[in-house]
Amino acid sequence: MSIKLPKIFLDSGNPEETKRAKGLLGHIDGQTTNPSLVAKHPEAQRFLSQGKKLTEEELLKFYRQIIEEIGREIAGSISVEVYADWDSTASQMLKQAEKMFTWGRNIHIKFPTTEEGLKAASEFTKNGGRVNMTLVFNQTQAAASYAATLQSKETHFVSPFIGRLDDRGVNGLDLVKNIIKLYRKFNKQDKSNILVLAASIRTLQHLYSSIFMGADVVTIPFKIAQEWVKEEKWMPDKHYRPSQSGLKYLKYEDLAFYNNFEKYKIPHIEDDLLDEGLKKFVADWKSLAKI
Ligand code: E4P
Repeated sequence: MSIKLPKIFLDSGNPEETKRAKGLLGHIDGQTTNPSLVAKHPEAQRFLSQGKKLTEEELLKFYRQIIEEIGREIAGSISVEVYADWDSTASQMLKQAEKMFTWGRNIHIKFPTTEEGLKAASEFTKNGGRVNMTLVFNQTQAAASYAATLQSKETHFVSPFIGRLDDRGVNGLDLVKNIIKLYRKFNKQDKSNILVLAASIRTLQHLYSSIFMGADVVTIPFKIAQEWVKEEKWMPDKHYRPSQSGLKYLKYEDLAFYNNFEKYKIPHIEDDLLDEGLKKFVADWKSLAKI
């Protein structure tokens, strides 16, 4: 088995880190952002420390400037996330996506992998948009993302969140492995151009194991880029064995292929990681602006 080199993305809302990561790694293939990462931007931290709040319009302007600055550094994909809570409708998300898509040449819109997020993604990709389906914690969400993007020739991403599953004592890397296996099966039925993007990477072990398992893309925080460079950008080979994590094993579910994403029932609030993830992004946006 030969190991395929994945695309390397930076996971950051700070264009200064884009510049530094480029210097460190020589090249980065793309970048992912999210509300929490934008809230960590030094200027955002400054507003916060002064107890200031932006208007919604100012926040969007600030986010847009960040994306444009990143776009001057890299030619690859930049993921931009819509604002969404449990009450957000597909059409509200679509409205934001249409604007955000114009912020650069190679934008992917991050929609939460909820029922409404999937509806928005399906509509958006039918009309030429590109998506990164985020907050993915189970195979059902990944299967639905596959089906929702079938009618598009563009490249899309599905983002399983490794670290957040680990935080709950479940091996997040198993989810990456299971989605890759499921998509290989689905590929035999109908082909979606959706790539597996390993997200919520917290350690070098997460990075090496994601590469070893065959993730198409890995998105790494700046700190992991620094650690990787210290290891001379070591790459796993076929002899690599992911370390025994002591975390709960996540069993593969042999889900059936449907070309209609609505056939997959996405757990709502019962999936507390999805609930918590959505709420955290909302809270980070609200810390910055009056939304
Ligand atoms: C990237 O697209 C994700 O939003 C990010 O990797 C999430 O990472 P976290 O779980 O460390 O917040």
